[in-house]
Amino acid sequence: MTRPSVLAAKLSAFPRLGLATLPTPLEPMKRLTAHLGGPRLWVKREDATGLGFGGNKLRKLDYVLHEAVTSGADVLVSGGVVQSNSQRQVAAAAAKLGIECHLAVYHGRLAPPTPEYESSGNALLNRLFGGHLHDVPWTGDRNAAITELGDRLREQGRRPYFVPYGVSSPLGAVAYASTILEIAEQSATLGIRPAAIVHCTGSAGTQAGLVVGASIAMPETRVVGIDIDAEPARVRSDVIAYAREAAGMLDAGFDEGAVEVVAGHAGPAYGVPHAATIEAIKLAGTLEAMALDPVYSGKGLAGLIALVRERRWPTDADVVFIHTGGTPALFAYQAVLGI
Ligand SMILES: Cc1ncc(COP(=O)(O)O)c(C=O)c1O
Repeated sequence: MTRPSVLAAKLSAFPRLGLATLPTPLEPMKRLTAHLGGPRLWVKREDATGLGFGGNKLRKLDYVLHEAVTSGADVLVSGGVVQSNSQRQVAAAAAKLGIECHLAVYHGRLAPPTPEYESSGNALLNRLFGGHLHDVPWTGDRNAAITELGDRLREQGRRPYFVPYGVSSPLGAVAYASTILEIAEQSATLGIRPAAIVHCTGSAGTQAGLVVGASIAMPETRVVGIDIDAEPARVRSDVIAYAREAAGMLDAGFDEGAVEVVAGHAGPAYGVPHAATIEAIKLAGTLEAMALDPVYSGKGLAGLIALVRERRWPTDADVVFIHTGGTPALFAYQAVLGI
């Protein structure tokens, strides 16, 4: 059995709903590669998962919401900041499944950076997709208000299904390991052996899935998470915790040494773009016609550009960037982009 087929066999034990459009494309970024002088850069288009403007959370929700549907839940409960891509994807999935959706919307994690922050982008789409929004203060505890919302609905006789902040959970990480299966198969078709997969990391489920998946199917490929929360130590310990549980669920080994969270590219704070983020967004737009966002994927690419400029990889290496989505947030940050 090849390594990818081992991962495929392990993942096949976990049912999914088919909400996400998969596999997502793996495309060359020839003009960005030429601009930076190598290595050869590729992009895995996780922004192209389809439903409700797509993004990395849909891949997690594909597996996680299977559990919701089979458990007989009649309402989904989740949450996030005003411009959360995660809750927008939960609202989109709920609309498609015909399940009511309640979202705890956290205020105060960051000061609104633009006048349009509260109403445009993901905030607009949450309403469009029929989400019931509950404004709550940010306390630093990502899941407490979501749990309280679920408890209130249960007291009213409802059967809520709890979707954690960022859809980050051990099952969410198992789901995200499926990205590695696709990259392994697409790399084989393209005849490349990526030295690294680089992506932005926050609530940690994405990176946990990538690390566990790579340990099974792409052990020579380094997974490099770019911290966008300005909390690299917290992110790394969350990645390790989810990865350990996901590895157990997939009956696979897991080495903490494989968890690399790169600090220094989050800008002044979560949700606040800085000059390097804006440079990355503009380069992706003008060279690759790719719309990144100022909170996640723009900072992720800023981190990758910095690593390329530090000569982390030889120019003939292949490096895959994951565009994790987040494009709608661009419209909520227009005033700070200077375009
Ligand atoms: C666009 C985008 N990219 C990346 C991430 C980070 O993924 P994770 O929270 O699984 O670390 C998120 C999470 O909200 C996101 O919305």
